[in-house]
Amino acid sequence: MTQASPLRVLVTGANGRTGRAVVRALARRAVPGAPVCVRALLRDPAQWPAVAALGAAEFAVGDMTDPASLAVALRDCDTLVHIGPPMHPLERVMTGHFIAAAQAVGLRHFVYYSVLQPLRRDIRHHRLKLEAEEDLVESGLAYTILQPSRYMQHLEPIWKTVLSAGVHAMPFSTEVRFNVADLLDLAEATATVVAESAPSAAQPGLYHFGSFELAGPEALSQQDMAGIIGAVTGRAVTAAQVPIAEMEARARAAGFGEDRVGQMASMNRHYDAHGMPGNPRVLAMLLGREPTSFRAYVRRLSENTPG
Ligand SMILES: NC(=O)c1ccc[n+]([C@@H]2O[C@H](COP(=O)([O-])OP(=O)(O)OC[C@H]3O[C@@H](n4cnc5c(N)ncnc54)[C@H](OP(=O)(O)O)[C@@H]3O)[C@@H](O)[C@H]2O)c1
Repeated sequence: MTQASPLRVLVTGANGRTGRAVVRALARRAVPGAPVCVRALLRDPAQWPAVAALGAAEFAVGDMTDPASLAVALRDCDTLVHIGPPMHPLERVMTGHFIAAAQAVGLRHFVYYSVLQPLRRDIRHHRLKLEAEEDLVESGLAYTILQPSRYMQHLEPIWKTVLSAGVHAMPFSTEVRFNVADLLDLAEATATVVAESAPSAAQPGLYHFGSFELAGPEALSQQDMAGIIGAVTGRAVTAAQVPIAEMEARARAAGFGEDRVGQMASMNRHYDAHGMPGNPRVLAMLLGREPTSFRAYVRRLSENTPG
């Protein structure tokens, strides 16, 4: 009996927060008639054991700024899930390298992990992702653009402090609203788009030539989130706004360069003025269920990471 050839998927940014979640979701996903083989793009082979533990089958070493390494990494792949580094000034250039490499190898499906509402152009990385989306749409490649909202997981780095201080602090107004999404839902939706578009799927190409907004189920302010954290943990938690100057100082202390610090400041000023509400129906459609609520996410976090 001949073995069905695998659906080979290159995931970029595979060692990052999003990439790891997507690798794990893809490796667990069944594609009818074809095993999924996840190839991780890494900058450093030392990252491989941790990414292999998530279920990746292969890795390629490459740099998104080096087109030659990307052409090699994409060889024999059916699908690319391109997850660029956050707030990177070369987002459009790097995505352009992948578009050229994909055209050269005749890639079947280019999945671009963008951002919710890239038309908010005064946030630089939204503008760069919008321009990269435009390049992809006009490339002649079969594409899917995913536009995920802000993650619920932004709570994780501050979780212990929130519990000990009883304050949920972010560098924007406590009143503006966001449809935050669970990264695990976003990764599952990404895997669905890949698997259900595969040549061996019931409707090959099902999600080709589509752009999908992926927002969480509720429009929540920091005050709402503080209330939910308090209710789940049984502690008093209030919301507070960190001044932008303090956020900048903390980001510099954490080792971020000036370009990144400036991007974080301008994004948070935009959030302060507008928040980022979105609509959850497309994410629900891709998941085949309602997206995870913030309350359910906090319950999971508190069970896995007690304060
Ligand atoms: N956070 C959110 O709420 C949110 C919402 C919507 C969309 N997004 C998007 O999600 C994407 C990923 O964000 P993230 O927080 O998961 O990022 P992350 O954890 O910082 O991971 C970025 C990954 O990219 C890799 N990388 C950086 N520069 C590279 C280069 N030149 N060549 C090859 N690899 C390189 C890094 O490699 P190393 O491991 O070697 O450093 C890392 O593995 C971003 O495009 C962001 O805009 C995020």
